[in-house]
Amino acid sequence: MIIRHPQPDEAGRVLALFEDEVRAGRMLPRSEDNFRAHVEDWLIAEQAGQVVGCVSLVYFNQELCEVRSLAVHPDYRGNGVASKLVSAAIDMAREHDMRRVLTLTRAPRLFEHLGFVRDFVDNFPEKVWQDCAPCPFRDACDEVALIYHLHRQEKTSDGK
Ligand SMILES: CC(C)(COP(=O)(O)OP(=O)(O)OC[C@H]1O[C@@H](n2cnc3c(N)ncnc32)[C@H](O)[C@@H]1OP(=O)(O)O)[C@@H](O)C(=O)NCCC(=O)NCCS
Repeated sequence: MIIRHPQPDEAGRVLALFEDEVRAGRMLPRSEDNFRAHVEDWLIAEQAGQVVGCVSLVYFNQELCEVRSLAVHPDYRGNGVASKLVSAAIDMAREHDMRRVLTLTRAPRLFEHLGFVRDFVDNFPEKVWQDCAPCPFRDACDEVALIYHLHRQEKTSDGK
């Protein structure tokens, strides 16, 4: 399996990975135009020519970003694909000199395994103003906020 940045013309294949989750109101929608405009902020997992997982980073400011649109094809779940994608996203955040990586998730254990710690979404007004305020589920949100703290001296997951 390889983790790589997608090409702009892979928008359809990537967004299809979580269209059912969007339809069910469990994930925020992303448009093909938005994908193509921020393609360098996405990572995909590819196995035998198939796109089996995706993740993106959304940058709020010069120190805080969010893991967004994490999804793995149902046939490939339970094999560590999401963990590899999130680890690579953390590396990407570090390369961009970010200090903190936020996530809002219903799978907190996945992130805790990787070093994220639980927090409160109200501590992140950037997120609340941008995404929570207009969200139809804002009064019944079942997502957990977790944060990963980056430190300059940390090494990347491939040891560099
Ligand atoms: C959540 C999702 C991305 C996990 O992908 P995955 O490749 O199966 O995850 P991994 O194999 O890397 O799992 C790593 C760990 O997280 C745990 N985990 C995975 N999915 C989980 C979930 N939905 N809830 C709680 N824990 C979960 C796993 O049990 C595993 O822990 P373990 O090693 O102690 O068993 C995948 O189930 C998915 O695409 N779901 C639908 C989309 C979605 O919910 N995305 C939002 C996630 S923020």
